[in-house]
This record gives sequence, C-alpha cells and structure tokens, in this order.
Amino acid sequence: MKLSTDDQKETVVKLNIVERALVNNPVRAWAQRHFEAPRLMALGGPCPDAVALEIGGGQGEGAQIIRERFGAARVISLDLDLAMVQRARRRLAGLEDILCLQGDCTALPLADGSVDALFDFGVVHHVPNWRSALDELDRVARPGARLYAMEVYRSLICHPVWKRVLTHPQQDRFDQDEFIDAWRQRGWQLLKERRLGQGLGWLAMQKGRP
Ligand SMILES: C[S@@+](CC[C@H](N)C(=O)[O-])C[C@H]1O[C@@H](n2cnc3c(N)ncnc32)[C@H](O)[C@@H]1O
Repeated sequence: MKLSTDDQKETVVKLNIVERALVNNPVRAWAQRHFEAPRLMALGGPCPDAVALEIGGGQGEGAQIIRERFGAARVISLDLDLAMVQRARRRLAGLEDILCLQGDCTALPLADGSVDALFDFGVVHHVPNWRSALDELDRVARPGARLYAMEVYRSLICHPVWKRVLTHPQQDRFDQDEFIDAWRQRGWQLLKERRLGQGLGWLAMQKGRP
C-alpha cells in the first residue's frame, strides 16, 4: 500500500499484509538471530560499546541482537511504520539501552557523525529513493563506522512471482554489486560479503577516515 505519492512517483511503500505476517512472528525472530546475525558477525565482527542505528527495525529482534550479540552500548531502532514501532516497544519494554523511534531513513533525526554502527536487516530495498537513504546513513555515520547489511535484490523483488505476493518498489532497484558501488561512491570500503544466488546477500563495510 502506498502511503504517499509525488506526481505518481512512489516516495514511501508500506509492507503489504503478507510481508507484515512474514516479519512479525517468532520464526522471523529465530531466523534473524540464528541465520542472519551470525553471517553479519562473521563478515563485520562485533561493535563493542557502539552507538548503533538499525533502520527498519520491525518487531525489534534486530535491536536486541545488536545489543546482546554485537555488544553495542546503545541501539536506536527506527521504523517508518508506527505499528511496527509500537510492537517493538512492547517486545523490548524495560530494555533501557534500546530506543525505538518512528522515522524515515531518508531523513534521520540524528546528528552528523553520531553513529558507530549501521544495521540494515532487509530494509533499503523497500525505499523508493534508496540513494537518499544511503546519503543519510553516510551523514550520521562517524569516520570508521561499520555497516552491517542483509539485502534483497532486483532479481528477487522484481521477479514476476514475488511481485504478485509482496509489495516492493519496482523502479531503480539494485543488485549486490550496485549496492556496494553506491557505498564506495560515498567513501566506504568493503570488508567482506556473502551471496545467496543473485537475490540475497550480506555485507560489511567501513566508512573511510579523513
Ligand atoms: C522487510 S521489513 C524488515 C523488518 C526487520 N528489519 C526484520 O528483519 O524483520 C522492512 C521494514 O522496513 C521498514 N521501512 C520501510 N521503509 C522505511 C523507511 N523509509 N524508513 C524506515 N523504515 C522503513 C518497514 O516498515 C519494515 O518494518
């Protein structure tokens, strides 16, 4: 479902009911904890004492993993969808080092250079103007900051079958090489990457120091 339009151009795309069901359940939490997080840890290592930002934090499992497994001191979990933020707040009630915020990753309510680690568990491919999201993430990251990303690529989200089931922006999507190149253009270097066919991948990158 589109939340807003700009001369017929998508600016924001909300999860449809199928994907909402796919990410809001204990199986998704298990997969994130036991399948995705270990892959990201193997690529980028821990981020002890970091101020970490997770975009599209969903039901909040990622924030907990970043705090407990990656060792971040504080986690800001930001999601566009208020219902997701409320669910995460309920699930994470009492965890004082995790702040759940409603917001758009193309307009982050954070200061320049204020974040040590960025986490993207399958979110940037949801953003129509994904390059603006990268600009914002780059802006808030301090020099030397790490990016941990699991992304879903053009070949999967634009596949005729998946297009019928899930709602994703279809214009100007990217593959893993293009995603890495976009970060490199902003001064980041690849640490390690891993791919599952053409449609899915994990990567860790680091922002250059002046
Ligand atoms: C596929 S879900 C992933 C949720 C969670 N990261 C996970 O792995 O289970 C994508 C999430 O990104 C959020 N999202 C989409 N566009 C966003 C934007 N522009 N800014 C912040 N969050 C966004 C959605 O509301 C949704 O919660």
